[in-house]
Amino acid sequence: MSEMPAGLVAIIRTLAEGHAGLADRSSRISEQYRRTGTSSAVVGEQSDAIAYALSRMPATYAAVSRVLEELQERAPGFAPATLLDAGAGPGTAAWAAGETFDGLGKTLFDHNRTFLDLAQQIAAGLSDAAELLRHDLGSFALGRSFDLVTCAYALTELGDAATLAAADRLWQHTSGVLVIVEPGRPRDYQRLMAVRARLIDAGGTVLAPCPHDAACPLVAPDWCHFSVRLSRSREHMHMKGGTLGYEDEKFSYLVVARPGIGERTPARVIRPPEENKFSVSLPLCAPQGVELHVVPSRDKPAFKAAKKLGWGDSFQG
Ligand SMILES: C[S@@+](CC[C@H](N)C(=O)[O-])C[C@H]1O[C@@H](n2cnc3c(N)ncnc32)[C@H](O)[C@@H]1O
Repeated sequence: MSEMPAGLVAIIRTLAEGHAGLADRSSRISEQYRRTGTSSAVVGEQSDAIAYALSRMPATYAAVSRVLEELQERAPGFAPATLLDAGAGPGTAAWAAGETFDGLGKTLFDHNRTFLDLAQQIAAGLSDAAELLRHDLGSFALGRSFDLVTCAYALTELGDAATLAAADRLWQHTSGVLVIVEPGRPRDYQRLMAVRARLIDAGGTVLAPCPHDAACPLVAPDWCHFSVRLSRSREHMHMKGGTLGYEDEKFSYLVVARPGIGERTPARVIRPPEENKFSVSLPLCAPQGVELHVVPSRDKPAFKAAKKLGWGDSFQG
């Protein structure tokens, strides 16, 4: 389930009551965010955080949920009891993880007090006894590790060196699986590849999206990213100033596990497949590199299975 559950939507809708001019705030946040790349300078008041929650949270929630579904597929026996959501903002990844894994004890941190206040209000609305802390991604040291660590759309706000240092800390706090989700842009993908190399060196196994721990075989201007479609509610459309009833959120991600957890996929569909009545062509990333795997219609069972596959899915061969 990639879309925010009705209960979470209702809490945010209630919190938004009485805040005027949210659509204007949202477009100001988007515009400044595009210019500065960080939210700290633009999310200063509670109305700003609510505008973010109304306009961006549905998409980041959908991307994180899609990645957590992939984690479940790759590691069906993984049942985390503790979660750390780093750079949590309103707690998007924590709430998505709570929908995916039962009984998860949640710790969230952010350096922006305004976001933490909103996360606290959402936690109260959900009756979730989440622990909320104010820390910086560059210096946090909680003295304990967590079964699952999430960091969604937050590393993108850091400089290159700070991103690698934050990745080291995230990994030090991970006893099971680290999930990083970033915007699906070339810059963020490239930085994620540097993080990936660092985490492999530190003993991590990349469970997804990659089917191997070798260097990424994609060559610029190509970059590894995926897409999730989500429907837009009336207020979401209003915030976005658009008329389309859906949006496609592009994201890049990494699911990195400690040894012994899960199994990686044999291959992954890295672009939308092409289909005609004679064949399905699957652009795959496989252990031996990138390939176009063509499944002819005469091979009926394989053709039927291939027709069900979409961009981002695992390919079992
Ligand atoms: C785009 S928001 C994403 C929020 C949330 N994770 C989500 O997916 O919706 C980026 C978040 O990263 C936080 N952040 C940025 N730099 C940070 C830092 N150095 N330390 C802690 N949090 C940081 C921001 O305050 C903000 O909450």
